[in-house]
Amino acid sequence: MVIPQHIQDKMYHPPDDLRRDAHVPNFNSYLSLYKKSLENPEAFWKEVAEEFFWEKPATGPMLQYNFDVTKGNIYVKCMEGAKTNMCYNVLDRNVKENNLAEKIAYYWEGNSPDHHMAITYSDLLKQVCRCANVLKEMGVKKGDRVAIYLPMIPELVYTMLACTRIGAVHSIVFAGFSSESLCERITDAQCSILVTADGVYRGEKLINLKQIADEALEKCRDKSSPAVTKCLVVKHHATTTKSGVACNKLQTPWDPECDVWWDEAMRDTPEDCEPEWLDAEDPLFILYTSGSTGKPKGVLHTVAGYMLYTSLTFKYVFDHHHDDVYWCTADIGWITGHSYITYGPLANGATSVIFEGIPVHPHAGRFWEIIEKYNVTKFYTAPTAIRLLMKYGKEPLLKYDLSSLRILGTVGEPINPEAWHWYHEVVGQGRCPVVDTFWQTETGGHVLTPLPAATPLKPGSATFPFFGVEPTILNEHGEELEGEAEGYLVFRRPWPGIMRTVYRNQERFENTYFKKFPGFYVTGDGCRRDKDGYYWITGRIDDMLNVSGHLMSTAEVEAALTEHAAVAEAAVVSRPHTVKGECLYCFVTLKDHREFNHSLAEELKGLVRERIGPIATPDFIQNAPALPKTRSGKIMRRVLRQIARNESDLGDLSTLADPKVVEVLFSQRCQATS
Ligand code: WTA
Repeated sequence: MVIPQHIQDKMYHPPDDLRRDAHVPNFNSYLSLYKKSLENPEAFWKEVAEEFFWEKPATGPMLQYNFDVTKGNIYVKCMEGAKTNMCYNVLDRNVKENNLAEKIAYYWEGNSPDHHMAITYSDLLKQVCRCANVLKEMGVKKGDRVAIYLPMIPELVYTMLACTRIGAVHSIVFAGFSSESLCERITDAQCSILVTADGVYRGEKLINLKQIADEALEKCRDKSSPAVTKCLVVKHHATTTKSGVACNKLQTPWDPECDVWWDEAMRDTPEDCEPEWLDAEDPLFILYTSGSTGKPKGVLHTVAGYMLYTSLTFKYVFDHHHDDVYWCTADIGWITGHSYITYGPLANGATSVIFEGIPVHPHAGRFWEIIEKYNVTKFYTAPTAIRLLMKYGKEPLLKYDLSSLRILGTVGEPINPEAWHWYHEVVGQGRCPVVDTFWQTETGGHVLTPLPAATPLKPGSATFPFFGVEPTILNEHGEELEGEAEGYLVFRRPWPGIMRTVYRNQERFENTYFKKFPGFYVTGDGCRRDKDGYYWITGRIDDMLNVSGHLMSTAEVEAALTEHAAVAEAAVVSRPHTVKGECLYCFVTLKDHREFNHSLAEELKGLVRERIGPIATPDFIQNAPALPKTRSGKIMRRVLRQIARNESDLGDLSTLADPKVVEVLFSQRCQATS
């Protein structure tokens, strides 16, 4: 692969000092490392593994796999026979071998600007060990699952690493999810412990997390899966009010049989705890992600491969150096937070910011204020946040000094060129490369991404594959497309950080990712390769929606809508949204004699919010006397999407059973505002 000179000339040049010190300083060095990673993966990954501590060396190769369903079960194994512990590697190794005991691991910045703290590597290690001892005391053993439903507070990191230390498998559930979603995840993973907080402020809004957690446990009991025996509760909300004055507004429901306050449990608990040495392929964590058939999938990651991959991608993609201050604005409840707030940065001994709040509270310059306060050098956020902040114009930025910034990153959805340019020119002052990182919960870490000092950038393109990753584009018949092409994005072989299975459902794992095109991992995303070899993600090609960078399935939302007594049938499609990227547009067919009106629409929105969480709140609900269906009864989503987008040329409608349905829907479509 050779990038033509005219593209290289157009490269957004990083400053000379960035290039001079970069781990991968130019495109040729990227190419030669990339070549090595594909031609000799054994040597490539072995070198990466040398950075880490292995209680026992591997007996098997760095990677073994079968990606072809026609040849047997799908599997990936990395460093079989080796024993290690990821918590030991990200904490003890840094404290004891790398002399980082006094280095700041995290600057924690609360929802309110007057709440903040700094946590060193040795503090972190102590807190993690204490929490590990608490969990052990509660009966948690290697292999047990622990559900974590916490806001962005240090205890979230302590708990996840405590699990990792004792070989328990954490299943973190984003604290914006509803009790229903939490229950579903606890039940599927058969968690024995739940860790939560009394409450949290999100901006000005106080959320009673413990109450939601209790409702979830109640629902689990109704489903006769009462696996959770203890609930560990962090007392938090009273310390996070706007003015900083402690105020106890919440009634925290309490069951003395089950509930334990975090502080009481941690008091007098020893500050050391031996790590459990785990097999390289032992489970590290489960993280649920939406599935196109509705029920979320428990994506399982294992110890050694995930450790190598998150560590290496962090180092190269953010070109990490020891004096950096790195800030990823994601929530740890999503994979971005797992890989690039906790594991990847800590594995590199990095200093990171953890931010509990939201971008526009108490003012629209909050992000910029934090960048100035901590001299953030590497900043990683989502296109939806950029678009939101763009709406406030340059004013809020001008008040702060952003000259510390050196690299900017984005993740979660395709970034539109307008947002890219604003990010690059206004936030980065034209000085900082923008790394547009494409990846998934399933991939564990970045798979298509620029390297900041090496890759000539094209706004909106995730550019080229990371080391060890071999993408290709297939057409509907599974034929590989060369050169300029558009089709299904697939990968031909595994890299160490790829998921290993769907928890307790290998069949679903194989069906979802490997069945359509035997021999390949199928991402579910569409992709275009341009004449210069750059990859451009075009969006999901399955029944998934991406709202503010969060994936959800149409089936999941439809299931919530049809729970309402008035709804006979529902079909959900996406409609472009200036801030969220996509939003939900729902068509509902009511049962006989039910009347559609504003209050019913609001009820339906509330129902979806309650079932899934606020992120899934529909923007539009349209009454659909009937849905457009083919003669075989299949809903024609393409047509619904076009109606939602107000596209009047609806193309070929000949397969419709009743074309008149479309006219009615089109004439009654919802306009610009919901
Ligand atoms: C989308 C998030 C375009 C994509 C890390 C993918 C992106 C899904 C990008 C995974 C990007 C993520 N450009 N699309 N840079 N990054 N996506 O599992 O559709 O929450 O399949 O992981 O987000 O979402 P997930």
